[in-house]
Amino acid sequence: MACEMLPIPTASEYTMNSMNSDEILKIEALHVTFSTERGPVRAVNGVSLSLKRGEVLGVVGESGCGKTVTGRSIIRLLSEPQAQTPQGSIVYRPRIGEPVDVLKLEQFGKEMCHLRGKEIAMIFQEPMTSLTPVYTVGKQIMEKILTHADVDKAEARAQALELLKRVGISAPEQRIDEYPHQMSGGMRQRVMIAIALACDPQVLIADEPTTALDVTVQAQILALMRDLKSNMNSSILLITHDLGVIGEMADSVAVMYMGRVVEYADSVTLFTKPRHPYTRGLFRSIPLLTKNETSRLEPIAGTVPEPYAVPSGCPFRTRCPHAMPVCEKHDPPPVVTRDGGTVRCWLYNDTDPEGST
Ligand SMILES: Nc1ncnc2c1ncn2[C@@H]1O[C@H](COP(=O)(O)OP(=O)(O)O)[C@@H](O)[C@H]1O
Ligand SMILES: [Mg+2]
Repeated sequence: MACEMLPIPTASEYTMNSMNSDEILKIEALHVTFSTERGPVRAVNGVSLSLKRGEVLGVVGESGCGKTVTGRSIIRLLSEPQAQTPQGSIVYRPRIGEPVDVLKLEQFGKEMCHLRGKEIAMIFQEPMTSLTPVYTVGKQIMEKILTHADVDKAEARAQALELLKRVGISAPEQRIDEYPHQMSGGMRQRVMIAIALACDPQVLIADEPTTALDVTVQAQILALMRDLKSNMNSSILLITHDLGVIGEMADSVAVMYMGRVVEYADSVTLFTKPRHPYTRGLFRSIPLLTKNETSRLEPIAGTVPEPYAVPSGCPFRTRCPHAMPVCEKHDPPPVVTRDGGTVRCWLYNDTDPEGST
C-alpha cells in the first residue's frame, strides 16, 4: 500500500493550534532584521508574546530594544528598504473567520489593509508626524470612517464628532474643522486616539502614547485609555519605556532587552518580585511612588551594546551585576516561573525556577 505523506504543519499552524480561545494575538519567534552598511541589525530577535481579549499587555524596555519594530510588524508597516521580511508568526483572531498569520498576508493586499485600521489600530508617539498638516482633523477622522464603513459623508461627520467628544475634546463642533497645528500636543494625541478608535478596533497598539506630553496631559490620556479599556473590552498592547505608565495601566508585562523578551509576568508579580537583573535595574533607575522615598536612584551600569556587536551568550551580561562564566558562553533559554511568567537568565533554571537570589 502506498504510504500517504502527511503535510508538515507550518510555524503559524503550530501557533494557531496552541492558541487559547481567550487569546486574540499570538506572536511566536518573531525576528526582524535591518540590513545596514555596518551589518545586520537584529532589531527583534525571537520575540514571543500573547495578548488576551480585554487585556492591557505592557511592553517595556530602554530605547532601541525593539518595541516599536515589534508593534509595526503586527500591522505590517515596516516599509523601509533595509527591513527584511519579518520571520516567525503573528497569528491574529479576527472578528469573523479563522485566525490568520498576518506575516503570510500580502503587505498592502486587501486582507491586510482591512485588518490594519479596522481590526488592529496603532497610535504613534509623535502625533504631528502621523497627522496630515494640510487637512482638518475632522476630515482625517472621516476619511478613516469612510474607508472602512459603508456610510455617507454626513453620517461620517456625525461619527467623527461623536469620537471627538468621546476622547474628551472640548467644543468638538469647532475643533472638528481645525488643523492639527491649531491644537496642543495633548489634543493632537486625543485626535490620534479618535482616528484609531474610528473603526472600533479589537486590538489597539499604543506606542509611547504619552511620552511627548507633559505630566498633567499624560495623566489625562492614561485615564482616557483606561476608560476605553473598560468600555470597549478591546485589547491594548501598550509600548513604553516608562515603568510608571506600565504600573498604572498594564495587566501583564513583557520586558524587552536587545530585541528579545527577557522577562514576562503579570503586573503585580513584576512589581513585587522582578526576577531578571535587567528588570531590577530598570526599577532601581526610576522614581516610583511605591518606592521608599529615601531609596537612591541607580542607573543601570554601562550602555546598551551596539546592535552590530551583540555580546556572546546572554546579551545583558556586559551590564549585569550577577554575570557568571556560563552567561558568556550560552544564551539563557526562557524558563517558566511559578507565577506563570517567563524569565531568561542563568540565575534561574528548570529545577528551581525561583533561583538562588
Ligand atoms: N530603518 C532602520 N534601519 C536600521 N535599523 C533600524 C531601523 N529601524 C529601527 N532600527 C533599529 O532597530 C532597533 C530597535 O528599534 P525600535 O524598535 O525603534 O526600538 P524602541 O522602540 O524599543 O526604542 C534599534 O537598534 C534601531 O536602531
Ligand atoms: Mg520606539
